Amino acid sequence: MDDLSAIEATHSDPEEGRWRLLEVRRLRRHYTVRRRPFGGPADTVRAVDGVDLHLDKGETLGLVGESGCGKTTLGRCIIRADRPTSGEVLFRLPDGHTVDLARLHGRELRAIRPHMHMVFQDPHASLNPRMTVLDIVAEPLVCNRLAKGRELVDRVARLLDTVGLDPVHMERYPHAFSGGQRQRIGIARSLAADPDLIVCDEPVSALDVSVQAQVLNLLQDIQRRLGVTYLFVAHDLAVVEHMADRVAVMYAGRIVETGPTAEVYARPRHPYTETLLAAVPRLEDVERGPKFVPAGEPANAADLPPGCAFHPRCHYATPNCSQEIPALGEVTRVHSAACHYAHTWTLRGVT
Ligand SMILES: Nc1ncnc2c1ncn2[C@@H]1O[C@H](COP(=O)(O)OP(=O)(O)OP(=O)(O)O)[C@@H](O)[C@H]1O
Ligand code: SF4
Ligand SMILES: [Mg+2]
Repeated sequence: MDDLSAIEATHSDPEEGRWRLLEVRRLRRHYTVRRRPFGGPADTVRAVDGVDLHLDKGETLGLVGESGCGKTTLGRCIIRADRPTSGEVLFRLPDGHTVDLARLHGRELRAIRPHMHMVFQDPHASLNPRMTVLDIVAEPLVCNRLAKGRELVDRVARLLDTVGLDPVHMERYPHAFSGGQRQRIGIARSLAADPDLIVCDEPVSALDVSVQAQVLNLLQDIQRRLGVTYLFVAHDLAVVEHMADRVAVMYAGRIVETGPTAEVYARPRHPYTETLLAAVPRLEDVERGPKFVPAGEPANAADLPPGCAFHPRCHYATPNCSQEIPALGEVTRVHSAACHYAHTWTLRGVT
């Protein structure tokens, strides 16, 4: 069975009717950057450095990790807003065929664009201030030649209604809306071409706490109604706990732990996950004082440490850790970790 037929045959949970929508294999995105603007030695920035992950239709995979670990680059490579250096992004189309998005160009790439979209962190920067809401939400429909004329306006009205905005305001410009309303406009736009996959890149971290929950609930409601699949990027583990069926923890361009959210949070198998979870503020912290945050600087993607990239910050490191890169291996059928001692330590989680 070749790679593509393997993903077509995958049914992760037939009882729930879930099937494999996306499988990312050994994905890399390396950037070459010059230290000086004109000439001089070049550095290789390993923004994404060998990622394996999958997404089943209709689920939410949370992607967490500190700033600079490669979350946005990975999301952009998956939806082909950026071009991977190597690896595969196998994506199952609604007609059952599977394509490797990493290899597509030109017309083939344009043809799959409607199937995936991105919601960005900053709803102020991501909406063109000179376009009306009608034009912003209609753009994916126009670009993909999916609607025009009266039908176009009707579809935009329905999309605005879906995200809880009054279609009467579609001729207004983004500045007339609050941050939460602008993010709703961004979500309406992401839904316009009826995508199967939406990459939500920190969709609420720029919003007031008071409206974050409303936008998160809207995303969940849309998923229930439309069956859309989310890759949900966040650095806030409490938000991911609320949103994600499964979680993938990223460090220095790699997935270091992945599994069902409840299991990973309760019984982490990678010391980096334990450190991230220990930094999540909990009610009991009010009595016990602040918890410790990850010590040391995150790894530099242009100069990764040898062996396990986390070893300079790891409380459990042994001499072997600076020599050998740990592979992402199964600790249970659904839970994997990239630590030489994933089967050895009992780490602290949260309940
Ligand atoms: N176009 C680029 N050229 C060079 N380096 C880049 C480029 N885009 C991203 N990087 C680098 O790749 C690494 C990963 O960046 P990325 O934006 O994907 O991280 P992130 O996890 O999304 O961070 P944040 O949480 O701050 O959004 C960083 O070191 C970043 O500086
Ligand atoms: S491999 Fe070693 S350094 Fe890396 S997380 Fe595991 S114990 Fe820590
Ligand atoms: Mg980012």
